Amino acid sequence: MSRYQAPIGVFDSGIGGLSILKALRAELPNESFVYIADSGNAPYGEKGDAFVIERSRALTQTLIHQHGIKALVVACNTATAAASSVLRAEYPDLPLVGVEPALKPAVLLSKTRRIGVLATRGTLASAKFGALMASLASQAEFILQPCDGLAAAIEREDTIKIRALCEEYTPALGEFGLHSGQIDTVVLGCTHYPFISEQLRELTGANVQLIDTGEPVARQTHRLLQTGGKLNSEAASAQTDNSQLFTTGDLASFTLLAKHWLGLPDSFQALKL
Ligand code: DGL
Repeated sequence: MSRYQAPIGVFDSGIGGLSILKALRAELPNESFVYIADSGNAPYGEKGDAFVIERSRALTQTLIHQHGIKALVVACNTATAAASSVLRAEYPDLPLVGVEPALKPAVLLSKTRRIGVLATRGTLASAKFGALMASLASQAEFILQPCDGLAAAIEREDTIKIRALCEEYTPALGEFGLHSGQIDTVVLGCTHYPFISEQLRELTGANVQLIDTGEPVARQTHRLLQTGGKLNSEAASAQTDNSQLFTTGDLASFTLLAKHWLGLPDSFQALKL
């Protein structure tokens, strides 16, 4: 296989990265993807850097050695914050795109300059996030809310717990609205949260903008492949789907979810890692 046809590797602690994969598939229809949901080890957000680095390394090795990927998308804010510099140092020739909470787009969109950020404890405590926020501190005020347990509840599709945690964490950010002193923009700083944007919107009100990172990450991946001359110029066959999906967790529920979120055909089957 030429390096142009080789797949792009994508991983997350679980199903969250499917929100990124969806945008990647739309942006890069000629490319093929190998996605690993590390649901058997999720959540990452409250487990500390050493654990997240070890898992990120193991998944990257699998994607390189078993699938010959030509680029890697770390579709997880927590893993990007803890492990992207380690992975870049260990694989300097592998194009790597990470995900970080969309503070810059939020600053451009917010009129009130009060921006809420929902993310995992690991992401918000990281040096990478601290540096990003400090670089924008003169342009807006950021109100941070670590959402312990929320990604785990989304993984389990535990709707009662999801509702309870949303009702705890969202109002804790402060008052929402379009007037001065109110929060008019909320950054979804964990790739699991776009799956519950309807519940969040009920709590913020319809005027508040919720921002995720799927499309910018997909565009950045496109640019990186283009610059490196690694885009697949051959059109993908309409017959075969261009994504292979693996999970370290429960196969049946992951297959159902992936089908639902990515609009895959009934015959689609994810694989166990
Ligand atoms: N989806 C991940 C993120 O973007 C991590 C969630 C978790 O495993 O805690 O941070």
